[in-house]
Amino acid sequence: MEIILIGPPGSGKGTQAKKLEQETGYKHVSTGDLLRNNPNLTKKQKEALNSGKLLSDEMILDIVQCELKNHEQTGWILDGYPRTQNQAKQLDDILGSKKPLVLYFHVKEKDLIERLTGRLTCKQCGSVYHKTSNPPKNTSYCDNCNTALTQRKDDTIEVVTQRLKIYEEKTAPIIQYYKEKNILQTIDSGNNRSIENIFLSIKEILNNRKGCIEK
Ligand code: AP5
Ligand code: MG
Repeated sequence: MEIILIGPPGSGKGTQAKKLEQETGYKHVSTGDLLRNNPNLTKKQKEALNSGKLLSDEMILDIVQCELKNHEQTGWILDGYPRTQNQAKQLDDILGSKKPLVLYFHVKEKDLIERLTGRLTCKQCGSVYHKTSNPPKNTSYCDNCNTALTQRKDDTIEVVTQRLKIYEEKTAPIIQYYKEKNILQTIDSGNNRSIENIFLSIKEILNNRKGCIEK
């Protein structure tokens, strides 16, 4: 199955994708993680990443094409792509006749700022935590691989504000694009719901679509 996660920064795409990957075996493909772990980025690209600007559609397309091809057999969960109308059209070309499921995570802006400025991330395995709402068992180490947790460079209030603005301008219009294709499901993913509760909703959507979740 092909699953696309759309939602503003901090809406829980990475958190839910990791859980879904474990449950289903579909590969979590996060363009943000791939960029942060790419040692070949130019100085300009690193600056764009750390200041919350989008990298070029062409550069991202190369990465995504390659990753999706590698995981064609298992199925995938795409997190962070597409982010522009042009990327959405490029993804249509990659997908051909395949019909993905698009999950849109809806969260209020106030919740997003609180989440991002308190987030802790594992550079090693990509796990995400929150200082108060989702803390690791051992204050500053990853539960999964015991690596020291850090704060992302783009999780300062200034950069978060910029990222939310870019999301509204460039990415939010894609929601309508997928609504018109009849493949989008909206999930209330605000702080009023626990991570587990949101995951249950996602599993329900998948079950309704597939009859059962494949492993
Ligand atoms: P990317 O890494 O994709 O960042 P993003 O889209 O801004 O999303 P985040 O990773 O910040 O949030 P998330 O939705 O994954 O939330 P999370 O699960 O961590 O992209 C980074 C940069 O890369 C971009 O700015 C751009 O420069 C570049 N880039 C990437 N893709 C690109 C593309 N296609 N084109 C061009 N450039 C691209 O959760 C957040 C926090 O909330 C955590 O602390 C978590 O514990 C907490 N949380 C989660 N769920 C809940 C809940 N239910 N209740 C309370 N807290 C919760
Ligand atoms: Mg993420």
